[in-house]
Amino acid sequence: MTEFLFPDAAGLVRAAGLLRGGRLVAFATETVYGLGADATSGRAVAAIFAAKGRPHFNPLICHYSDAAAAFAHVEPTPTACRLAEAFWPGPLTLVLYRRSACPVAPLAGAGLETLAVRVPAHRDALALLRAVGRPVAAPSANRSGDVSPTTAAHVLAGLSGRIDAVLDSGPCQVGVESTVLDLTGAQPVLLRPGGVTREAIVDVVGAVDRGIPSAGFQEAGILRSPGLLVSHYAPSLPVRLQAHEAAANEALLAFGPAPGGAAAMFQLSEAGDLAEAAANLFAGLRALDEQGRRLGLCGIAVMPVPEQGLGLAINDRLLRAATPRGSSAPPAP
Ligand code: TXA
Ligand code: MG
Repeated sequence: MTEFLFPDAAGLVRAAGLLRGGRLVAFATETVYGLGADATSGRAVAAIFAAKGRPHFNPLICHYSDAAAAFAHVEPTPTACRLAEAFWPGPLTLVLYRRSACPVAPLAGAGLETLAVRVPAHRDALALLRAVGRPVAAPSANRSGDVSPTTAAHVLAGLSGRIDAVLDSGPCQVGVESTVLDLTGAQPVLLRPGGVTREAIVDVVGAVDRGIPSAGFQEAGILRSPGLLVSHYAPSLPVRLQAHEAAANEALLAFGPAPGGAAAMFQLSEAGDLAEAAANLFAGLRALDEQGRRLGLCGIAVMPVPEQGLGLAINDRLLRAATPRGSSAPPAP
């Protein structure tokens, strides 16, 4: 049984107690719901991988209540300090070298000498992290490969009975995951576009290497971010990108003024607002997948989203959603 908790004082105490006891608790962040476990416990971290069906080579992000706590476990560079100052709490994850005394279980970092750390901008998440008093490892709270959850109901749809509790804080504001930035080299490398835009990061640090030509994150044969599998966020229906209208047997994921006549439609943002579209993205993919299957449709057509600002993160997720499961190559454009 998965306990359903509200983020009042009693719910937060219960959730923190479960986490300290090595159990799994899903909780909201500003980006998506995370599946949390005590990052210092190898057993608790192993339970995350088991509940999600996640490959062990894919490392987890450790969540902290403030930058000082994070930088006690990894070695901050001057760039990391500037970015933390500018964007934490917020949807930015920094990959840095672990300190030798870092108590985070090696499994959380998939055995790497680096660790991904972030401070989420969510009142309940921060209250929970403070109450736990330890780093909380938390991937998105979905079965591996599925669409990320932005509500407690999404979490339960995939993980009910497989996790100990979910803390319901309502829908997530940002809606796409954090931006992942590797700071271990000479220049920051963008491993995953996300809630903090590339443009905003460039404003603070000058230049950023694009480590991920959206789906090709393999540099000189090395997977910079082992978890950035090409097929991810995948609904069960096939996804067709850059569509200007839906065929008779397709559902339409619309962005901006939409053609009429689709058998099922979900509007990301009528006004063409990228922040609104990001917040709606995963709920839209889930809704159309469900409706499309019910109506016997054979796919989801997706209207173009501009490749700027939060559009980078949205297009990255859409490209992965359009990649057939088990495939290592993105679909032909
Ligand atoms: O917004 C988010 O980041 C959410 C919330 C819950 O915080 N979490 C999330 O976690 O999206 P997850 O596990 O679904 O994605 C983490 C990404 C993966 O692509 C993983 O490979 C990468 O971060 N990552 C984690 N540790 C890394 C490391 N040491 N080096 C490179 N990439 C790393
Ligand atoms: Mg994920």
